[in-house]
Amino acid sequence: FKVPQPVNEPVKSYKPGSPEREELKKKLAELKSKQIEIPLIIGGEEIKTGNTEEIRIPHNHSHVLGVYHKAGKKEVEMAIDAALEARKQWSAMPWEHRVSVFLKIAELLSGPWRATINAATMLGQSKTVHQAEIDSAAELVDFYRFNSYYMAELMKDQPISPTGMWNRIEYRPLEGYIFAVTPFNFTSIAGNLPTAPAIVGNVSLWKPASSAVYSAYWLMKLFEEAGLPKGVINFVPGSGGQVGTPAMTNPNLAGIHFTGSTEVFQNMWKLISDNLKNMKNYPRIVGETGGKDFIFAHNSADVDALVVAALRGAFEYQGQKCSAASRMYVPKSIWKEFKEKYVNEVSKIKMGDVEDFTNFMSAVIDKGAFETITGYIKYAKESKEAEIITGGNFDDSKGYFIEPTTIVTTNPKFKTMQEEIFGPVLTIYVYDDNKLDETLQLCDETSPYGLTGAIFAQDRKAIVKMSDALRNAAGNFYINDKPTGAVVGQQPFGGGRASGTNDKAGSAMNILRWMTARTIKETF
Ligand code: SER
Repeated sequence: FKVPQPVNEPVKSYKPGSPEREELKKKLAELKSKQIEIPLIIGGEEIKTGNTEEIRIPHNHSHVLGVYHKAGKKEVEMAIDAALEARKQWSAMPWEHRVSVFLKIAELLSGPWRATINAATMLGQSKTVHQAEIDSAAELVDFYRFNSYYMAELMKDQPISPTGMWNRIEYRPLEGYIFAVTPFNFTSIAGNLPTAPAIVGNVSLWKPASSAVYSAYWLMKLFEEAGLPKGVINFVPGSGGQVGTPAMTNPNLAGIHFTGSTEVFQNMWKLISDNLKNMKNYPRIVGETGGKDFIFAHNSADVDALVVAALRGAFEYQGQKCSAASRMYVPKSIWKEFKEKYVNEVSKIKMGDVEDFTNFMSAVIDKGAFETITGYIKYAKESKEAEIITGGNFDDSKGYFIEPTTIVTTNPKFKTMQEEIFGPVLTIYVYDDNKLDETLQLCDETSPYGLTGAIFAQDRKAIVKMSDALRNAAGNFYINDKPTGAVVGQQPFGGGRASGTNDKAGSAMNILRWMTARTIKETF
């Protein structure tokens, strides 16, 4: 069998009068009109613990979408048992059948489920229609189709066999279960982390971010409809400590598939290392964490393209992409032109509810995020080293709204040039054209992260120099484009340094992490 080489799922436009727009509007109204109760799903059974939390719309926080039940130690242990039980059949199943389930999930998501998952992402995570479409529809469909393809291709890789023997490699899933911990900012990442290992035959416990349980639950319903066997993915939302500690100290832990903060990832790593003696295997630890992603312009840059990249890179999805541009270096010689055009474009940004499809931005995810982000803005307002040239205002009376804010600083190591803010705040440092080398070095050294970055230049010698100087500063490096929007199969995603283990989501490199192998030599 051969899994066909997939093509990327086309992104729908939702233009007025289009059928997809009507369907999505209907779905948004339907989901808003009812409050749902979200249980845990363990071994296919719905479990209600009674320990519940409300789910509210970030751009309209008086609106409750429902409640979810939170797992504790007991439910995590049940989930581990259910996963290990399901593993017996799932791991032994011919791979073509596992792949069939995921290709079917992709078909359903591309068709009848698209509106539900998009609407759930728009309401639960305040994504505008276009941001939801490229995430929870297009990227997620791509993950299922491409991962299926990569898995099948990897299985073909076999060693050579001189005469007199037959050498072979038997690829298998890891021994145990995977703990998948997923973020709020991409439904596609949430839908990918528990499933990429499952395609290979692994089973998992899935703890979605508290602020994205809503869309995660609808994904579980989609998996169920596509025929994913019970217990292959066990849905255990809850607090990090209550769910994480029992999930990561069990001897059967085979791996972690994580996207979230650097601090949480480092704590997980420590917890696992403290318990290593009890583990049956060394767990595979795959994580994507923070970022302080940059745009670095050379004086040969196309200024119009730079304006678009800065605006889209910094403010789409309210700057809450792990890949979002949050610091920028602009040479003095083009600063005046850039600033004028940029401020003018940012002033046109429309912000509001996601139900109005003309809005470019909406609210940030929750009160905690609102407070952290506005704290940085207040800090900049009070500093002599910074000037705010766009935005700077915020209001959480109805939803957690923060204007697209741009800080210009005279200090290349200013706090907002260094720390991850995870919101709609871009800090710019204007450098002397004749200090290109020093500024490149500053860019490389200013943050501990290495996720994404972009350079803008037309001069080929400058492109070579900048690419070289920033070699380790970004796992995803863009030349003359914004640092966001990696596409599965086109730009495998992930970074090094404090940004993660760089196991490239959306590539065969990631799938390989979920396999183990037995090498067999048979002598004739
Ligand atoms: N695909 C996203 C981006 O590149 C990150 O997961 O923005």
